[in-house]
Amino acid sequence: MTVIVHENAEELASATADRLAAALASAQAARGTASAVLTGGRTGNAVLAALRSATLDWSSLDIYWGDERFLPAGDPERNETQAREALLDHVPVSPARVHPMAPSDGEFGDDPDAAAEAYAVLLHDVASFDVCLLGVGEEGHTASVFPHSPAVAETARAVVAVRDCPKPPPTRVSLTLPTIRRAERVWLMTAGAAKAEAVAAALGGADEAELPAAGARGRQETLWLVDKAAAGEY
Ligand code: 6PG
Repeated sequence: MTVIVHENAEELASATADRLAAALASAQAARGTASAVLTGGRTGNAVLAALRSATLDWSSLDIYWGDERFLPAGDPERNETQAREALLDHVPVSPARVHPMAPSDGEFGDDPDAAAEAYAVLLHDVASFDVCLLGVGEEGHTASVFPHSPAVAETARAVVAVRDCPKPPPTRVSLTLPTIRRAERVWLMTAGAAKAEAVAAALGGADEAELPAAGARGRQETLWLVDKAAAGEY
C-alpha cells in the first residue's frame, strides 16, 4: 500500500490523470488493450476531465464502473452520465467497449438485483482490470460498499444491489470488495480534510467491515492518492 500526497485537489486530479494515462498506455503496449473501472464522485470525475488531453488508443480501452446510482438513463446523478460529460463524450472510445451498469428504466426495469446480476454475468469473462479507480467516503465507504452493510460482507456475488444507501441516491449497484480485488491496480483517490479520519483509519489497518476502503487492494498495486488535507491525520 503506497500513499502519494499532492498539494491540493487540483494537482491530485491532474497528476492522477497523467498516472492513469501512463498505466493504460503501458497495458496497451504490452497486450494491445487495457481496461479501467471508473468511480463516481468529485475526485473521480475531476480525474476523468483531466484525462481528456491524454494520448491513448481510446478504441482499445474497456470501460467499466465500480458502482452506479440506480436511476433512469441520462439522469445527471448517474456516474455514467457524469463520466460521459467529463471524458467519454470527448474522446474516441469504442461504444461497444463502454460497459455501464443498467439504468432503472432499462431492460431490467426498476430491479437493481437484476441489474447487478447482469453486470456480474458481464464481468464473468473479465479476468482482471488494469486499473480500478475508487473514491472514499468520510465514513470509509468505497464504490457503494458502506460500513457494516450487506455489501461489505458479500463474498458470493460479484456485483450487488445496494438499498437505503447513506449517501444519496439510496439505491445503487456496486462491485463487491472481492471483485475490486481482481484489479491489478487499485487506486483510492480522495481530497479534503473531511476524509482525513477515514484515510488515517484505512492506512492504520482498520477492518474492512468497519472501513470498506481498507479492503480495496490490487493484485500488484494499491495506491492511496490524496491531497495534503486528506492526509492530515495520517
Ligand atoms: C458514488 C461514488 C462514491 C464516491 C465517494 C467519494 O457513486 O458516489 O462511487 O464511492 O466516489 O463517495 O465521493 P467524493 O470524491 O465526491 O467525495
